[in-house]
Amino acid sequence: MEHVAAVPAWALLAYLVSGVLFILALRGLSSPETSRAGNRNGMIGMGIAVVTTLATHDIASLPEIAAAIILGGGIGFITARRIAMTAMPQLVAAFHSLVGLAAVLVAAAAFLNPQAFGIADASGAIFGASRVEMVLGIAIGAITFSGSVIAFAKLNGNMSGTPILLPARHIINLALLLAIAFFTFGFWHSQSAMDFWIVVGLSFLIGFLLIIPIGGADMPVVVSMLNSYSGWAAAAMGFTLQNTAMIITGALVGSSGAILSYIMCKAMNRSFISVIAGGFGAEAGPAGAAAAIDRPWKRGSAEDAAFLMQNAEKVIIVPGYGMAVAQAQHVLREMGDKLKHQGVDVRYAIHPVAGRMPGHMNVLLAEANVPYDEVFELEDINTDFGQADVAFVIGANDVTNPAAKTDKTSPIYGMPVLDVEKAKTVLFIKRSMGGVGYAGVDNELFYRDNTMMLLADAKKMVEEIVKNLD
Ligand code: TAP
Repeated sequence: MEHVAAVPAWALLAYLVSGVLFILALRGLSSPETSRAGNRNGMIGMGIAVVTTLATHDIASLPEIAAAIILGGGIGFITARRIAMTAMPQLVAAFHSLVGLAAVLVAAAAFLNPQAFGIADASGAIFGASRVEMVLGIAIGAITFSGSVIAFAKLNGNMSGTPILLPARHIINLALLLAIAFFTFGFWHSQSAMDFWIVVGLSFLIGFLLIIPIGGADMPVVVSMLNSYSGWAAAAMGFTLQNTAMIITGALVGSSGAILSYIMCKAMNRSFISVIAGGFGAEAGPAGAAAAIDRPWKRGSAEDAAFLMQNAEKVIIVPGYGMAVAQAQHVLREMGDKLKHQGVDVRYAIHPVAGRMPGHMNVLLAEANVPYDEVFELEDINTDFGQADVAFVIGANDVTNPAAKTDKTSPIYGMPVLDVEKAKTVLFIKRSMGGVGYAGVDNELFYRDNTMMLLADAKKMVEEIVKNLD
């Protein structure tokens, strides 16, 4: 049997260094203070891995590779700069679909020309282990591709976020999985081209069928799960290409995506199995809108809000999705600064699923230069609302809704929430009483005695408050 030339020791060492840099990158990304350094480590690690791979392989045409890198990198650069922060989840879904497609294309290339990849003997017979690796890579890659395309379409509004529930969908999916396993075995056994392409087709189909029943509210968990799949697809292709850096990177992406999905499920009190089984979000809609009409509530003005906060000792700001929509983070920081100058203790409380993606609020507050030591996670600040004079809720709704604690029929029941109602006064900024949050349910806090509603676009309202703080 003919094997590929052994990878030189220096290259293995270089791959190890890039693997360590990737681990440091993930570690750095776990806190806003170290995230820039983390990103830098990741970029250096990727640079080392790419240069090492280019230096140790017979490159057919360097200009072609350079052109592909410039073209792909250029598109990525322009897209990332242009994208609005609120559209980030669909961008991530779109990028994952490309990772899945890349795994499919690499596996197809390896199948069509196995000797070029050093995974076949002189007669063209692909080694047994390589057959399994490539077919796994292509299956996971194809599922990632079609699943991510559906996730993108649902998040981007090209497709309804409502779950599409086919009758007997669990049986269909199980049958498809068994068929994939059967044809994978067939390919391993006989290297049959037909089996190979059947696995590709069935995997594209099951990726599509697995994601259509999942509702809009669960989509970010799905995106993070697909992120994990794309990592495993890359790791499988790393084995085919005998590239250590790819195996390490794929495994890191695979496991961190799985952990993130788990953390998000926990923060939303959803079981991972029920997300995958789909269906949540079917009932989402303006369910609370009708209830909002005939209950009494108090409306406040920017002047009232400024007066209350100036005379407070402690203010806790709770940002949510509406702050991101209004891009109110900069003027919010200005408001916080003014209050601090007037001797008020100002802190920010972040719910783990506030906004529409993990870390959404942290990123926006960091962009507006809010000091990190003023920003607290739910478990570190929730007991402090009892001592706060004002809870200033800006565009957050579900993450403050006490129904999560009391109403077993609520779709958010069991989700940990910020106890804003314990503050002496709660100020809620939102645009209208009819508007609901992501889960589509009304929030009884709007009608409480200690609540004052500030109905306006978040940015405009905070600008007005800032004017009144002078
Ligand atoms: P939501 O519950 O979605 O509420 C957003 C609020 O912002 C609404 O009350 C809306 O009311 C208001 N709003 C929207 N645009 C505004 C604007 N321009 N100015 C002022 N207010 C505006 O937000 P949340 O409390 O951050 O909760 C997040 C939700 O998303 C949770 O249900 C969570 O489970 C879900 N989710 C989050 C994630 C992650 S990872 N973050 C993932 C999946 C799902 P009006 O329309 O009346 O203005």
